[in-house]
Amino acid sequence: MPLIKIHGMIDPHTHLRDLDWTHKATFASETKAAIAGGYWAVFDMPNTAPSTVDEALLLDKAQRINRSAHCDWGLYFGASQADNTAEYEAIARRVCGLKIYNNSTTGDLLIDSSAMRERHYRAWTPSKLIAVHAEEETVSNILELVRKYRQPTHFLHISSEYEIKLLTRAKADGLPVTVGVCPHHLFLCEDDLPALGAYGLMKPELKRKSDQRALWRAIRLGVVDIIESDHAPHTIAEKESDTPPYGVPGLETTLPLMLQAAQEGRLPLQRACDMLSLNVQRIWRITPLPKTYTLVDTDASYLIERENLVSKCGWSPFEGKRVKGKVREVWIRGHKVYDGETVLCPPGFGRDLFGLVA
Ligand code: NCD
Ligand code: ZN
Ligand code: ZN
Repeated sequence: MPLIKIHGMIDPHTHLRDLDWTHKATFASETKAAIAGGYWAVFDMPNTAPSTVDEALLLDKAQRINRSAHCDWGLYFGASQADNTAEYEAIARRVCGLKIYNNSTTGDLLIDSSAMRERHYRAWTPSKLIAVHAEEETVSNILELVRKYRQPTHFLHISSEYEIKLLTRAKADGLPVTVGVCPHHLFLCEDDLPALGAYGLMKPELKRKSDQRALWRAIRLGVVDIIESDHAPHTIAEKESDTPPYGVPGLETTLPLMLQAAQEGRLPLQRACDMLSLNVQRIWRITPLPKTYTLVDTDASYLIERENLVSKCGWSPFEGKRVKGKVREVWIRGHKVYDGETVLCPPGFGRDLFGLVA
């Protein structure tokens, strides 16, 4: 059985929900799903209900997740339209980064005024990065701010050939930028929409085949730094409604999809593993923990099916896809937390990687 070992997998782009959105997902259910997907740690986005935009809300969220998390975790702080830059000094050291929503998506954190975006860029402390939701032309607007303020910036869920072109140039110019790509943009495209219906709706939306090819090319050229799931669970009832929300789950399908791609020769196996672990650790300056790793059987082939998923939402846009690569064991800090079938650690086992809770 060809087992490979991946040290310290981190997904820096997840929406674990909870707080007022426990009907979608809970900190407990989704950190369990993360472990089943092979992860050591996940970073949670601030577009929750309520949004994570002041110190009290951040600390309240931290207490809640601290009691429930199975895996290790970090929280983002959200830049708000109402200008919450006065909060930055108190919270910057204790979060994984600042998140700025520059195009519309789930939640109420959209900032479309360039003056307000600039205010956030000017005020943030460069010791932590800024993670941005920016699509198409908005990417170049944000790049202007990076050029001016030199704040390390991670571009989330990059999905088009045009965006890749802008970021390739920005990297060549030496700007402090990093690039994340999601499995749904790598393995699905607009041709899949008729079959997927609302289950194929997410922001950024599924693109053309030519965009997908540009993403794979950028992976091979090393322009893409990491693979992030953008795990964004919504209930089946919400997706079946007349106004389906944007977002798809991904914590349990990201690793097997990437391993499958490696075995098809679409990228080197080591690169696939690094983009899920080492590169994330490097960008977020996380010191890897000893005895914290994932064992994967790269020969085990299986179908992605909703019956086998741990995430509370209970569906996947990848249902019916065959993948090769099954998580056999997950270890965190010397504890076996997953045996290939069951998550073995209790809620509250997961630790905060950034010192929010004492
Ligand atoms: C995300 C969500 O539902 O929170 N949705 C999505 O379509 N990706 C928000 C986001 O990442 O933009
Ligand atoms: Zn987004
Ligand atoms: Zn997201």
